[in-house]
Amino acid sequence: MSSDVAAFHKVLGRAKRILAICGAGLSASSGLPTFRGAGGLWRNYESTSLATPQAFARDPGLVWLFYGYRRHVALGVSPNDGHRALAKLAERQPGFLCLTQNVDNLHERAGHSVGQLRHLHGSLFDLKCSNRRCDWVEQNNQDDPLCPALAPSSIDAAPGERLTLLDPAQELEPIPESELPHCPRCKKGLQRPGVVWFGEQLDHAMLAEVDAWIDAGSVDIVLVVGTSSVVYPAAGYAERARSAGTSVVTVNLDADIDECRPGDFAFAGDAAKLLPELLEPVIGKL
Ligand code: APR
Repeated sequence: MSSDVAAFHKVLGRAKRILAICGAGLSASSGLPTFRGAGGLWRNYESTSLATPQAFARDPGLVWLFYGYRRHVALGVSPNDGHRALAKLAERQPGFLCLTQNVDNLHERAGHSVGQLRHLHGSLFDLKCSNRRCDWVEQNNQDDPLCPALAPSSIDAAPGERLTLLDPAQELEPIPESELPHCPRCKKGLQRPGVVWFGEQLDHAMLAEVDAWIDAGSVDIVLVVGTSSVVYPAAGYAERARSAGTSVVTVNLDADIDECRPGDFAFAGDAAKLLPELLEPVIGKL
């Protein structure tokens, strides 16, 4: 176990296949709140309590306000050097695959090749129909913040007025279901964000693809970046790597050297600062 950068650089220099598993901490220094810990509250709601199909069925307007806010905030921030370092690693290292739990699209905006990136939990900017019998999806919708009831041009509000609802300091007004976006195909279901909520299945085809990549050769390093590693299956990839004897490298504000096994590394600090330094032998200076 080590937090020795030079020792990590030696391991990196020999590595042919690298897997990264990223979480909300990677986007924290871009200004996006994390889910757990200090950033995990939106208004007085636990973010995780709104990310469920039950919450959407109970109060779709509230859940859309939350996601409208998240889309709005994500569009207003920029990728950081951590995203850029991983994007460069993808460019320089063909044997690199990045699994992200983040739905903010900052990896892509940093130039990360989509072939070397998998969104385990979907994207804030993908939309789908909440009617299970309808398979309508729209990818990469960048309307800010999408929900017509919140749009600045909303007919019964002066431009920008409704957007203030996204300000956590404003009183919440319930949004009538008629003002929420409906599916253009079946016209019955409400549109919902194309993210994976608690209790929902991840995309089977994507998971099979990830397994095939892992099984295609030995993985030399698993980078675990900015995640609390409590949500599966993401957390399971590092566990699998540990049992296969792969070096697991944790990059997290609260990375704990005492929790590492021999051969693992733990680097405590901001991923945006650490990743460029850790990956420099492969990616050069950012
Ligand atoms: N640099 C590195 N790590 C950081 C930073 C930073 N600047 N800021 C915070 N962290 C760490 C925290 O210490 C914490 O361990 O990032 C981690 C963020 O953990 P979570 O908020 O639990 O986020 P994540 O692991 O991505 O959550 C997984 O849970 O709610 C769901 O679907 C949601 O994808 C999300 C999943």
